[in-house]
Amino acid sequence: MAETRLMTLRAKMTEADAAYYQQDAPVLSDGDYDALRAEVVAIEAAFPDLITDESPTQTVGAAPAGGFEKVTHARPMLSLANAFTDDDVVEFFGRVRRFLSLSEQAAIEMTCEPKIDGLSAAITYKQGKFTLGATRGDGSVGENITANLAVIGDVPKQLTGDDVPDVLEVRGEVYMAKDDFAAMNAALEADGKKVFANPRNAAAGSLRQLDPSITATRPLRFFAYALGQVSGDVGSSHWELLDRLKRWGFVTNPLNRLCTSAEDVLTFYHDIETRRAALGYDIDGVVYKVNRFDYQNRMGQVSRSPRWATSHKFPAERAVTTLNEITLQVGRTGALTPVANLEPVTVGGVVVSRATLHNEDELDRKDIRAGDTVVIQRAGDVIPQVVEVLLDRRPDDSAKFVFPDACPVCGAPTSRPEGEVVRRCSGDLVCSAQVVERLKHFISRDALDIDGFGAKNVEQFYSFGWVKTPADIFTLGEREAEIAQLEGWGPASAAKLRNAIEARRTIPLDRLMFGLGIRQIGIDTARVLARTYETAETLFAQFDLLVAFDEAANAEMLAIDGIGPSVVSEARRFFTNPDNRAAVDALLEHVTIEAVQAPTIDADSVLAGKTVVFTGTLTQMSRAEAKARAEALGAKVSGSVSKKTDLVVIGLDAGSKAKKAAELNLETMDEDQWVAFLNG
Ligand code: IVH
Repeated sequence: MAETRLMTLRAKMTEADAAYYQQDAPVLSDGDYDALRAEVVAIEAAFPDLITDESPTQTVGAAPAGGFEKVTHARPMLSLANAFTDDDVVEFFGRVRRFLSLSEQAAIEMTCEPKIDGLSAAITYKQGKFTLGATRGDGSVGENITANLAVIGDVPKQLTGDDVPDVLEVRGEVYMAKDDFAAMNAALEADGKKVFANPRNAAAGSLRQLDPSITATRPLRFFAYALGQVSGDVGSSHWELLDRLKRWGFVTNPLNRLCTSAEDVLTFYHDIETRRAALGYDIDGVVYKVNRFDYQNRMGQVSRSPRWATSHKFPAERAVTTLNEITLQVGRTGALTPVANLEPVTVGGVVVSRATLHNEDELDRKDIRAGDTVVIQRAGDVIPQVVEVLLDRRPDDSAKFVFPDACPVCGAPTSRPEGEVVRRCSGDLVCSAQVVERLKHFISRDALDIDGFGAKNVEQFYSFGWVKTPADIFTLGEREAEIAQLEGWGPASAAKLRNAIEARRTIPLDRLMFGLGIRQIGIDTARVLARTYETAETLFAQFDLLVAFDEAANAEMLAIDGIGPSVVSEARRFFTNPDNRAAVDALLEHVTIEAVQAPTIDADSVLAGKTVVFTGTLTQMSRAEAKARAEALGAKVSGSVSKKTDLVVIGLDAGSKAKKAAELNLETMDEDQWVAFLNG
C-alpha cells in the first residue's frame, strides 16, 4: 500500500523535476511540488527500506551547503511579555481594560493555554495542502524545515473541513514528551551517542537535522495555537480558532480553557502549576490571550510582543551548592562581570556549574564569597543566578571579593564612572577579551549569523591570528586548506564554512548595524536606524557628522522615534575612535549592504511616514490605543506640534496644541473623524 503510493508519487516528482530542471517548464506550482515532496519524504521516513538511490528525495532538492534555506515570515513571529506574580496578572487585566477603555465591571474573555517548552514553528497550507514549514528564527526570518515538519505525525499533510482558507499558516509548538525523551536518550546512550540535556534541547536538535530521515526517527509532537498569514475569514475569537484548528486536523492542548476574569485565570494557573510535574510534557508557564480578535487588533503590539497576550511564568527552579571561586569575565564593551564557579548541581534537569554575579555593585551589596554555600536559580534559558547566601554555613576564613584595578585579561586600568554600576576595562581593541567578544557578537544570530561558525571557532581562529576584525572573517576562505586540517574539521566542513561565509557577503543594514556591537544599539534600535537611513553610506555619514558634533545631525537623530540621547552618545563615542571607524570601512570593502524594508502593512496606508499629534481628551479610545493604531498605519506619533506635523487629532478641552495647529494651518480631525477614518 505505502509502496504503491510511494511509486506513484515518486513518478510524479521525477516528472515534475524533469519539467522544471531540464525543460524549464514547470508542470506543478511550487506549493504543489512542496506538498508532493513532503509526502514522499514522510513515507520514506516511515519505511526507510523503500528508499533507493533513484528516489528523487536522494537526488534533488537537498538542503543547501550553508544549512537550511531562509524563509521570510509573512507576518513576524512574535514573542510574549512575561508576568511572574498574581499581581502582574491583575495588572495585565488592568492594562487591557485601560487600553480598550472598558469599565471595571466589563468581563474580559481570556483564553488560557499551557506554555509548552518546545520550539515554535510556522506551517503553511495552500488549498488545505501542507506546502511549507519554517522555524521562528529571529521572528522575521526563519529556516525552511518543510521536510522535517512533514515527518511529524501531529502535523497534518492535508486539512479536513470545507471552511479551510486557501492560504493558511498555522503556528504552534514542536515538543517532545517526557517519556519519549527518556526512551530516546536511553537508546542514544546504548549506541554510545551523545544524549540531550532535556526534552526541549532534544526537540530542537531533532528538528534541525539536515537529514529529515533522522528527524523521522525522533518522537516529535506538535500543538497548534495561533495563525500566521491567512486568506479570508479568521472568525471572531481565539477560542473559536482553537476549535477550528481541531476540526481541520490539528492537535490543540486539551487543557486550554476560556476564562472571564483575573481570578478565573489565576485559579487555572495554580491548578496547572500543581499538575505540572504529572503532565506528559514540559511546560514553563501559562499563556493568556485576549479572546476577541477585534480587541486583539485594536491592541496591536509593542516592539516584538503583542499587547493582548502575556505569559505567566512558573517560579524559577532552585538548588543549593558550593561556590568554589569567583572569576571575572571581560565582555564586548569591556564590562567586568563577576562569575560564580559552582560545584556542579542539577537545577530543573540541567547541570549548572556557573552563575552570573552581575556586576561590582551587586556583588558588593550581596557580599557573596568564595567558599559560600549558595542558593541558585534558573528560569528557562536565562543565565543561572545566585539568589541567596546561606550565611550560617560560611567558612570562618572567607574574604570579600575585591575588584582589581587592572583588567585580568590585558592589564589595562579598569574604571567605574560615577553613577554607573559596571566597572570596565579601558583596553578597547588592545584587550583580546573585548576583541574576541566583539567578533562573537558580530557573528551572532541577529547579526551576521554564519551557519556552522560559532563562538568556539572565533576563539580558535583569533588565537591563530587569523581573525582580528570583522573584515578578516571574509578572508577566511583563503585558509580553507588550513581549516580542513584542524581537529574536528575536514575538507567538506571547511568548504561548507567558506560557502556559508560567502552567503553573508550581502547583509541587511540592520544586521550590520547591530553586529557592530555599539552599546545601546540592540537589534530593534538597529532596525529603526536602518529603516530611517536606508543605505550604509547615508547612515555612516550621519555618524561622522555626530562625531564632528554637528548640531543638525544630532537633532535629526534625536527626532527619530525610538532613538534617545544615550543611543546618540554611544554611537558618537564608538565612531570617534578611529580604530572602530577603520574597522567598519574595512568591513564595507567586503560586503554589500541591503536596505531594510519597513513592515509591509504600512506601505499603502495614507498615514505611512506621516507625523501625527494627539491632543485633548479622547473619549472613544485611550491615548495609548490611538497612538498604537496610528503607528500600525505607519505614522510617527509626536508629542508636539510643529510645521513638520501632518495631522493633529483634537479631542475635548484641547489647549495650546490645537491653537498652534490652527496657526500653522495644519490638517486636523476631531475624534469622530479620527474614528471614522480608522474604520475605513
Ligand atoms: S502564542 C503572539 N501560545 O512561547 C503569540 N506561544 O514567548 C505568540 N509558546 O515563541 C505565541 N506555548 O514558542 C503561544 N500556547 C502558546 C505557547 C507559546 C509555548 C512559546 C512559543 C513562543 C514563545 C513566546
